[in-house]
Amino acid sequence: MNLSLGVLASGSGSNLQSILDACAGGSLDARVAVVISDNPDAYALQRGRAAGAAAVVVDPRTSASRAEHDGKVVAVLREHGADTVVLAGYMKLVTPVLLDAFPQRVINIHPALLPSFPGVHIHGEVLEHGVKFSGCTVHFVDAGMDTGPIIIQAVVPVRDDDTPDTLAARVLREEHRIFPQALQYLAEGRLRLAGRRVLLDPPCPSSGTLHNPTVCS
Ligand code: GRF
Repeated sequence: MNLSLGVLASGSGSNLQSILDACAGGSLDARVAVVISDNPDAYALQRGRAAGAAAVVVDPRTSASRAEHDGKVVAVLREHGADTVVLAGYMKLVTPVLLDAFPQRVINIHPALLPSFPGVHIHGEVLEHGVKFSGCTVHFVDAGMDTGPIIIQAVVPVRDDDTPDTLAARVLREEHRIFPQALQYLAEGRLRLAGRRVLLDPPCPSSGTLHNPTVCS
């Protein structure tokens, strides 16, 4: 199935760009119908326009509640024929108004290995905690914050000399790989929910075990 994507983005939109590039390159059977932002200055809007998508600002200050805001977002998504909603660096929590309008069709990317380190600005927390791996997660969105069923994750090593910025850059490179891939699995109708688990049908082989630091013996 060719997906019609509505992408919600608040910032630079590099994840949006990876999706636009995958659509243009033929590795993702989808088109970006509309980019919606809560931030009029989001560079994501320009990226969308440059690729021929509609770009719409829905200003949260014009709504009295998050639910009212999401009602306006849903109206724009419907107007542009979106069937799947992609949260690509969208800094607002979505409400049931949006989730109920697109059941099992709202997908988010998070720059950590959920369920560890939910929330925002997490790379500093990751370093402070001392974990040896971080990564990113694409997941279906539910009513919680970063709690929905996980579709795909990528793992990156945390290095001793990392800063939040160097770690964020390493994670972001993987975000750009797994987000289009997760959407392509959805387009191919290969994602099956079993409780909280998202199973890939037919399955793909998984990569090998990782160690950080290296196990020498
Ligand atoms: C990404 O790290 C994403 O995981 C997080 O916000 C960042 C957005 O980056 N939710 P961009 O706007 O896609 O460049």
